[in-house]
Amino acid sequence: MKKVLILGANSAIARAVGRIYAEQGHALYLVGRDPAKLAATELDLKVRAKAPVFSLASDLTETSRHAELIATAEAKLGGLDTVLIAHGELGSQLDAQKDVAATMRILNSNFISQVSLMTLLANNFEHKKSGTLAVITSVAGDRGRKTNYVYGTAKGALSIFLSGLRNRLCSFGVSVVDLRLGFVDTPMTSSFKKGPLWASPEAVGKAIVHAISRGDDIVYVPWFWRWIMLIIRSIPETLFKRLSL
Ligand SMILES: NC(=O)c1ccc[n+]([C@@H]2O[C@H](COP(=O)([O-])OP(=O)(O)OC[C@H]3O[C@@H](n4cnc5c(N)ncnc54)[C@H](OP(=O)(O)O)[C@@H]3O)[C@@H](O)[C@H]2O)c1
Repeated sequence: MKKVLILGANSAIARAVGRIYAEQGHALYLVGRDPAKLAATELDLKVRAKAPVFSLASDLTETSRHAELIATAEAKLGGLDTVLIAHGELGSQLDAQKDVAATMRILNSNFISQVSLMTLLANNFEHKKSGTLAVITSVAGDRGRKTNYVYGTAKGALSIFLSGLRNRLCSFGVSVVDLRLGFVDTPMTSSFKKGPLWASPEAVGKAIVHAISRGDDIVYVPWFWRWIMLIIRSIPETLFKRLSL
């Protein structure tokens, strides 16, 4: 039985992962921001669970609470071996361009809060010489585009941080999994027009569980985004800056 901490547990994708883990019999500690949504998430998972499910409502941008949060999760679960960091916000690129506070909000919810959590969790797993730290990033972090470069910057910086952690923790037997997602049909993207490149939270959840079980390094989900982003990254900047992608 794994002892799993899910941060941002109210996310549609995290909930899909939680359902699989609950059915597989792993113990879960869920952290979500909205208490009403969290109660529904917890109930949904408890119905399927074969092991304990705990929850805590917390705004994860409150970094001063992170050490206590992790210690409580570990005490309740009786240990900790797997962590999924799923929280994040798209925000508004246009608002961010006009207002530094809006930019900082996007950076806090998609990068700074994750860095605080990962710093503490990395030390915890390094000390134990085991554990899996999985973090949802985005293909938006692979190249800056005018329509979402603040969000993309946060996700890209997160991937670089994960790369450094992986390099540091590899010799301690700790896996650091960068889950680079493409378009997923969730509340975050409810206003977007959907097309053939879109995936369901359930399909993405399944791929995430698979990647975590293998201790993969960098995983594009769904898989075809690896090739799409390879092409996008290979476009020369002199051309890319003139495109509207
Ligand atoms: N959907 C996509 O196309 C897509 C693509 C690439 C990457 N991603 C990433 O996938 C992850 C999950 O997103 P999703 O698509 O599943 O969207 P979602 O269902 O809207 O979930 C996002 C979750 O993040 C939580 N959250 C945001 N700020 C938080 C904070 N300060 N403290 C605690 N929780 C916070 C929200 O919690 P509450 O509900 O409790 O407020 C919300 O449940 C995000 O990191 C997102 O950036 C999504």
